[in-house]
Amino acid sequence: MLEFLRTLRTNGLVVRVAAIAAIGGLLFGYDTGVISGALLYIKKDLNAGSFAQEAVVSVLLIGAACGAVISGYLADRISRRDTKIISGCVYIAGALGSALATDLAMLIGFRFLLGLAVGTASFVAPMYISEVAPPRARGGLTSFNQLAVTVGILISYLVNYAFKDVSGNWRWMLGVAVIPGVALAIGMLTVPKTPRWLVEHHREDEAREVLLRLRANDPDADVDAELRDIHDSIEEGRGLRVRDLWGARVRPLLVIGLGLAIFQQFVGVNTVIYYAPTILQKTGLNADTAITQTLSVGITNVLFTVVAILLLDRLGRRALLILGTVGLGLSLVLLAVFFGIGSLQQSDPWIALVALIVYIACFAVGLGPVFWLMISEIFPQRLRSKAMSVTTVANWLANFLVSATFLTLTSAISRSGTFILYAGLSVLAVLFFWLRVPETAGRSLEQIQSEVGAERDEAAEPAERRS
Ligand code: BGC
Repeated sequence: MLEFLRTLRTNGLVVRVAAIAAIGGLLFGYDTGVISGALLYIKKDLNAGSFAQEAVVSVLLIGAACGAVISGYLADRISRRDTKIISGCVYIAGALGSALATDLAMLIGFRFLLGLAVGTASFVAPMYISEVAPPRARGGLTSFNQLAVTVGILISYLVNYAFKDVSGNWRWMLGVAVIPGVALAIGMLTVPKTPRWLVEHHREDEAREVLLRLRANDPDADVDAELRDIHDSIEEGRGLRVRDLWGARVRPLLVIGLGLAIFQQFVGVNTVIYYAPTILQKTGLNADTAITQTLSVGITNVLFTVVAILLLDRLGRRALLILGTVGLGLSLVLLAVFFGIGSLQQSDPWIALVALIVYIACFAVGLGPVFWLMISEIFPQRLRSKAMSVTTVANWLANFLVSATFLTLTSAISRSGTFILYAGLSVLAVLFFWLRVPETAGRSLEQIQSEVGAERDEAAEPAERRS
């Protein structure tokens, strides 16, 4: 990350590229967060019961899973840049349509469209940036992207807060998203296609020219060596298919990536992000106060992501992952106890807020950034983009499963039972991380592969240390 920030200081084009990619992360975060506040009013205005509310929240996630698949294909065909321009336009249409929705069906349809754009942002934004950032700054960009996601969530909470007393409030909350959509579509028009995509499409001269611009002022840059690396990794990846991920060399790594993807969602993080005001309202607060208190959850998320960025290299990914997940498991138990004992809700409603804050802090120092970071670190370069696309889709599907069932679960097994269930899943997550997830900081791909028992990968790139 620090290396990444140093690069930003020296190269104007990389700054622009990073800022525009950050809009992709913001957009992902904004839509994740905005629905939490909007839901309180949509519920009344459009007469939405539990099932309809879950549909409004989760249809975006199905869209996002589809978006991550389609964009993997489009990014190869028409370039990462043009895919992002299209996704910006789809995003504008989705945001406007949701804001103007006259009934639930229309809202659900446009939320799906929005999802396509959000899924694209979650996959193509880090991909675009990793192909333009200097090699040694690549690790930092992933954390940078996660930071943008949390800032997006916070902005959405602020917007919810600002519009809560305005008439037609939920329409404004959803409609404001047009702004990052426009910024993304226009911004992407001003940045180049990535050198890797250009080489893949036999446009070597343009690739060299773009790399020279991207590495201007960088005394350590070696454009020829970078071009050679790009060629080599394209050659190694030629003809490989998604099913090659299941080969003996990569399978143990894929299991780790999928485990991280699924557990990141199964600990229930997005029930907190989407339903925080709804949860707080159940403690007896009115909608206004619930939205106000939710702001503290958003602020904590951003602050602790910054803490993670500062600590991930020093303490290692594994320690933060395991400690963070233990902490969030304990706060889930606290939430369960709180909702289980009726008298506590009367006498000490603040306990719910404290539990939510501790929960999100623990997620933000561990599972939040570590999942995205590890899937960019553990796979061999030749299969990396396929593996990242599969794990990203798994993450969205798991997100869907949890969000689509939260309200139904709370009425079937009570709120307390639901949080106990997530706590149980976080115990499984800790065991999985403990037993399967290797440390990746400061390690080469070969070391990681031999630690997890993957067959040595002859085609792996030379020992590249991660920091
Ligand atoms: C997760 C999102 C979540 C966000 C919260 C991300 O890493 O993938 O599902 O909403 O963190 O900060």
